[in-house]
Amino acid sequence: MGNLPAGVTLKIEADAQALAHAAADLICAAVQQKPDLSILVATGNTPMPTYAELARRAAAGQADFSRVTAVQLDEYLGLTDDDPRSLWGWMQRSFVAPLGITRTIRLHVPEEFDRDVAALGGLDLALLGLGPNGHLGFNEPPSPPESPTRTVTLTPESLESNRVYWNGLAVPTGAMTAGMNLILSARQTVLLVSGAHKRGILRCTLEGDQTPNLPASLLRRTALTVIADEAAWL
Ligand code: GLP
Repeated sequence: MGNLPAGVTLKIEADAQALAHAAADLICAAVQQKPDLSILVATGNTPMPTYAELARRAAAGQADFSRVTAVQLDEYLGLTDDDPRSLWGWMQRSFVAPLGITRTIRLHVPEEFDRDVAALGGLDLALLGLGPNGHLGFNEPPSPPESPTRTVTLTPESLESNRVYWNGLAVPTGAMTAGMNLILSARQTVLLVSGAHKRGILRCTLEGDQTPNLPASLLRRTALTVIADEAAWL
């Protein structure tokens, strides 16, 4: 592979389960160092085994997330709270409740969200998945580094890639996302990438131009750890 910038670490794990263990190790170490960690939390399929592993460790008394603040990364527009497609609901079910987290910041009104995150002292960790078109959260291409927290219109690629989550229900066309400016300001960023279908976009993310046309490539200017499975890299 090409040269990665000094701040970037790439860890290749055998499979999705090993990836989950490595990611859980990293997150637990961060929480041990700073029990009141603020963490930006992706939904999507990739981090689910990691969240299950974190929940297992919490249940076994091996980790304590009670002082952690979970910060929502993205949300569709126009859904009621009880809509099965709510990403807030997905984050509650997969991360907040099973880890015993009591503090959260919901993405609802962009200005309030940014103010709440700033009042916390910013983001300690951003835990991200890689959109098949290189998006982060719903920062669709092109998203320059200064893009704020805002509402967006989803691209056809994202409407298609999000269809798999909702079992035949339509994917809302509007969304809200934490801004690139916020994501890039996190003290640590972790990008989880799993599966052969992400191989091309992961290569471009790490080895192509750093460009708003591939928002994830901009993570290379941060203290970034990429944890990928072999299917996504080799
Ligand atoms: C989705 C979400 C992102 C997610 C990404 C990857 O569209 N908006 O937050 O990280 O795409 O999803 P997956 O992990 O299912 O591949």
